[in-house]
Amino acid sequence: MEITELKTLHMTDPLGIDVTPYFSWKLRSEQPDTVQTQYQLTVTDPDGRTVLDAGPIATDKNTYIAYAGEPLRSRSRYTIEVSVQDNHGNTAKQSGWFETALLAADEWTAQWIAPKKKAKPSKKGFGNGRPATLFRQTFSVNGEVVSARLYATCHGAYEVYLNGKAPDARVFAPEHTVYEKYLCYQTYDILPLLRAGGNAIGMVVGDGWYHCPNAKPNMKTDAQHAALYQIELVYRDGCRDVIGSDETALVSDGAVRSADLYAGEQYDARREQPGWACADFDASQWEHAVTKKYGYENLKAQFGEPVMRVAELKPVGIKRSPKGETILDFGQNLAGWVRVKTHLQKGQTLRMEHCEVLDKDGNYYNNILSAGGAGGGCDQTDEFISNGGEETYEPHFTYHGFRFVRLTIDGKAPAPDTLNGDGFTAVALSTQKEEVGSFVCSDDKLNRLYQNIRWSQRSNMLSIPTDCPQREKAGWTGDMLVYAKTALLNEDCTALFTRWLYNMQCDQDAYGIVPMVVPENGNYPMTGKMMQLSSGGKGKGTSSGWGDAAVIVPYSMYEITSNTEILKQQYYCMRRWVDHIIRQAADNKPKDCTRPEGIEQYLWDTGYHYGEWLIPSQNKNGLDMKNLGTIMKMSAAYTAPIFGWLSVSTFAQIAAILAQDTADNALYETDAQKYRPIADKMKDAIQKGVIGTDGSMPADLMGAYVLPIYFDLVPEKHKQKFADALVQSIEKNGGCMDTGFLTAPYLLFALDKIGRTDLAYQLLWQTKCPSWLSEVEQGATTIWENTFGYDADGNPGSLSFNHYAFGAVADWIFQREAGIVPLAPGFTKVRIRPIPDGKLTACKRTFQTMQGEISVDWKREGADFTMDVTIPCNTAAEIILPNGEKTETGSGVYHYGCKVCVQ
Ligand code: BGC
Repeated sequence: MEITELKTLHMTDPLGIDVTPYFSWKLRSEQPDTVQTQYQLTVTDPDGRTVLDAGPIATDKNTYIAYAGEPLRSRSRYTIEVSVQDNHGNTAKQSGWFETALLAADEWTAQWIAPKKKAKPSKKGFGNGRPATLFRQTFSVNGEVVSARLYATCHGAYEVYLNGKAPDARVFAPEHTVYEKYLCYQTYDILPLLRAGGNAIGMVVGDGWYHCPNAKPNMKTDAQHAALYQIELVYRDGCRDVIGSDETALVSDGAVRSADLYAGEQYDARREQPGWACADFDASQWEHAVTKKYGYENLKAQFGEPVMRVAELKPVGIKRSPKGETILDFGQNLAGWVRVKTHLQKGQTLRMEHCEVLDKDGNYYNNILSAGGAGGGCDQTDEFISNGGEETYEPHFTYHGFRFVRLTIDGKAPAPDTLNGDGFTAVALSTQKEEVGSFVCSDDKLNRLYQNIRWSQRSNMLSIPTDCPQREKAGWTGDMLVYAKTALLNEDCTALFTRWLYNMQCDQDAYGIVPMVVPENGNYPMTGKMMQLSSGGKGKGTSSGWGDAAVIVPYSMYEITSNTEILKQQYYCMRRWVDHIIRQAADNKPKDCTRPEGIEQYLWDTGYHYGEWLIPSQNKNGLDMKNLGTIMKMSAAYTAPIFGWLSVSTFAQIAAILAQDTADNALYETDAQKYRPIADKMKDAIQKGVIGTDGSMPADLMGAYVLPIYFDLVPEKHKQKFADALVQSIEKNGGCMDTGFLTAPYLLFALDKIGRTDLAYQLLWQTKCPSWLSEVEQGATTIWENTFGYDADGNPGSLSFNHYAFGAVADWIFQREAGIVPLAPGFTKVRIRPIPDGKLTACKRTFQTMQGEISVDWKREGADFTMDVTIPCNTAAEIILPNGEKTETGSGVYHYGCKVCVQ
């Protein structure tokens, strides 16, 4: 038996944390039925003093063990030692470390610096069109350095170099956050980059989210690029040297002439200043920086992994379009940029325009909705001006959503056969996360669907969870509500989501409103206000199903990983949100409302709501702007009361979970007792006030039946009616799904609940539009925002082709096709029960739970069904074969077989 993956805050040996850590580890053993029976945990400070000595504690708990030792010191590396014992008497040990960053604002001695010249403020809707700023500062190293750290951040997005070399490969530091309240700084180990004598730090700051018109903070900001860096050296003799950014820094600009996260980047290689970040560079022409009083109160050590280059692809074709354009095809829609090797003459301009899809004839097509509006004006264009000779260019401060690139050199389309495809590489960017899932089966289309889901996830987990990479790049809360669970079944997104949820706390307003987009910046605050005004509401703009992410996302994290720490972190944010819902329900009623007060006061049925959002039949030709208001209202009549109830009910459950989990639990117990009865009244109000006495719903839409069935809201007497209505709505819709963002994740599960798993499979296998596989049949390589994708004229609509929301169907495939069903949070109890439907002959799904790998690998030849199953330590499994045979087992590797009868 051994301990694997000892982690702190879901990260391996994190450098630079400033929150109380928690620890998790996994056991691995050859011996079946292994369960941890006790653990001992010690944490030692850099002087070798034990600051925590916990245990031995008799428990099988190996996750989310919160640090409860002496207060931690700044800038210190702590060693963690865990030893465990299992039920067979085996023991194992593992060690790891974490290092604290600057734990108090007054530990910043560096000063904010900026160029002296005042930068022009931005124009709305488009990039600022100004060059990135180079900052450099020299310092000397006088003796043997044993530890060297750099703490750095900026207003904008930065790349940092020590003596010309970057300490790591991250991009877009310091991450997308609610800057006015929460600005991350990064910690780097720079020891390997230092040299004796003269050294230099160079930082190039581009606009990033901070200055980008589409994403700039919801406050008045100084338009300047600004930098803050603090280098801390520890010498062999124990002396410390701290070098901070100050007025001795010098400022210039370089080759990045203009960079906007949406519009693109212009890079003029003739303006490069080779060696600018090295000590011996002649900076006599540079200007002195000035110091700024921006303060340190909003600074937080970066939580979670950075954005990295995660995949590279070569073009699968270079073609001449009917219009005579030269178009590169990378064969895959993604978020990232193109790295290009060029051989141009000095002053020649290579222009790359990125797009996701081509028009029906194969020409370049810009599918960006409402250019110039929220998320509009995104040209997705990079320009490289050559300095002559062989050069390699990769953008710095922009990224795009694309599969295709239209190329010109000095405005002309180069002949495809003169281009060397090898010189172009599509670089996919994403926040770095550990892979935790894989799926492969005997059906190529389903495999492609899974890969499309993975690509949409990869493309939209870039610093924050986003809606789409080519248009808004925004943290739409509702999209995350529906997709969070699926995301966690594919990648360990916990650190990323934890940071995003912290942003959510920062964005919550005085009314407890969680906005529709987090971070709420750019044009969204204004759009939100208009939404509120139009419905007579106050505070930030939100919608049921969107703000509810405040409760549902942390709870989904708990369900998949047993994360109680996130429930504690978000507790007050959730409570303020549910209080808002409860107040909205009690204080407002729709005009002409005839419901009895006792019911009406528990229904959230007023205010602005998106409804289900993007129900396929209502958006055949993209977003139906003309009828949008009516369409939204139709489904909001049930989504608002149901999601309102869901939040309150889930919150009551969370309070009860924490009451069990924590020693100091009075708060949680009181809340559990207070909110459960309210949730029950809300449920009762839905049953009496939303569901008609005749068992009808306010709108005859598929989703209207899905939600009550899935969430067990249908009164007993109407159950058959609802089941029939759901089946009929599928028939009426030609055997296709017709659910929007908020209901699609539950559709197939609702069919299970009414005993129609067969119909769920029909919908999954459906290839007529709208369906999941119709996208695959049309050549999709990601999940589309609108299941129809293409308009009636055969051209791509204006909506995005890279939106993960509808990909939540992967959760059903995981539970039914692969048959992995969690019976306890974090999969510590699991049911393995594949339901082969006759189409598949093989299926393999793996998933790394917090305990280790679950793997299900089944095959069917005629009537012979065989299955290999791996169950990790600390996990109890119930295996149910397709013939109904049931076995209970603990960890281990098992083989099963039985006869099946499937059509
Ligand atoms: C976004 C969605 C979002 C929706 C809400 C869209 O523009 O791309 O993903 O949830 O607006 O209305």
